Amino acid sequence: MAKPIKEDPKDKVGTTGHSWDGIEELNNPLPRWWVWVFYLCILYALGYAIAYPAWPLIHGATPGLLHASTRLDVEKDIKAFDEMNAPIKAKLVAADLTAIEGDASLKAYALDAGKSIFATNCAPCHGAGAAGVQGKGYPNLLDNDWLYGGAIDAIHTTVTHGVRNTVDPEARNVGIYMPAWSDKATGALADVATAKLTDEQVGQAVNYVLKISGQTADEAKATAGTQIFTDNCAACHNPDGKGNRDMGSPNLTDAIWLYGGDEATLTQTIKFGRGGVMPSWGYAPEGSKPRLTEDEIRAVAVYVHSLGGGE
Ligand code: HEC
Ligand code: HEC
Repeated sequence: MAKPIKEDPKDKVGTTGHSWDGIEELNNPLPRWWVWVFYLCILYALGYAIAYPAWPLIHGATPGLLHASTRLDVEKDIKAFDEMNAPIKAKLVAADLTAIEGDASLKAYALDAGKSIFATNCAPCHGAGAAGVQGKGYPNLLDNDWLYGGAIDAIHTTVTHGVRNTVDPEARNVGIYMPAWSDKATGALADVATAKLTDEQVGQAVNYVLKISGQTADEAKATAGTQIFTDNCAACHNPDGKGNRDMGSPNLTDAIWLYGGDEATLTQTIKFGRGGVMPSWGYAPEGSKPRLTEDEIRAVAVYVHSLGGGE
């Protein structure tokens, strides 16, 4: 049987002319399907560049016929949400503060919105879980110990106006400070004190506070501190040391501290004074916007009230 004569593909398509050790490269055309996909890709790219933002310019890019923009999409979504929530926000603002929590749908909305408002605006100072920052004077909002009151309207007022800030004329405690008692202290907080205490007297006052807060104290010093407390501290902290909400002066008999209840911190507090500042969220000078709108303040107040320590 005669061997079939094999057609040499070289005759049909030729070679590229490259040859390596006698191995030659055939000059086969690209597969059809591949070429078509290639052309389609070019067409698609042209279409895309015309329809969508594509070519970078000095400022931004060519807008494209469709004017597509993910930023505009987000703006539209936000607007749609705002419109959707407008009725419930209006209801929240119109409602009696104390009635909000009795209305299931208002309460659910306020808790939800309040939680995210808290995370964005309040957590930097009061902590993500609202437990405050011990020692820094950022109060824990989970407990039942309140400087200014834990009822919904008290919380609402605190959040609306803040504390001791210099912007809001209705801020709580403007001009009321824990004075600096040390006879060596200088500055604004030293001017608040009605009398000056020596280091020894400060030590006695510290031991008195240690004693009324149930900690170990030097008895002799604590006894001497009783009179110092009555003369200098009772006016603000109350004769029983339980504080006074009208002045935001804390209860000194519990184990809850803004700055700390150990001997060193108490000495620092009494010698050099304190005055925590919280921004105003509802105050807006002429022509500007408040940091939070009334519905947002109400939502976050309801949220804080719900955290466990609300009265
Ligand atoms: C810049 C820090 C800061 C931010 C932000 C802040 N606070 Fe405060 N907040 C404070 C300080 C400090 C105090 C305590 C003031 C004092 O010492 O009298 C306080 C006190 C409070 C109180 C009073 C607690 C009590 O015992 O009566 C409430 C309620 C409160 N904050 C809620 C909020 C809410 C809600 C937000 C967010 C909208 C917020 N705070 C944002 C610093 C802050
Ligand atoms: C003019 C009112 C006033 C007088 C008088 C006063 N205090 Fe205070 N005291 C305050 C206020 C207000 C605060 C809270 C400061 C803040 O919120 O940052 C405070 C805070 C404190 C704290 C910090 C408590 C904590 O939780 O960390 C201690 C301790 C304290 N006072 C002890 C005393 C002692 C002792 C005296 C007397 C020698 C005294 N105070 C007199 C108003 C007063």
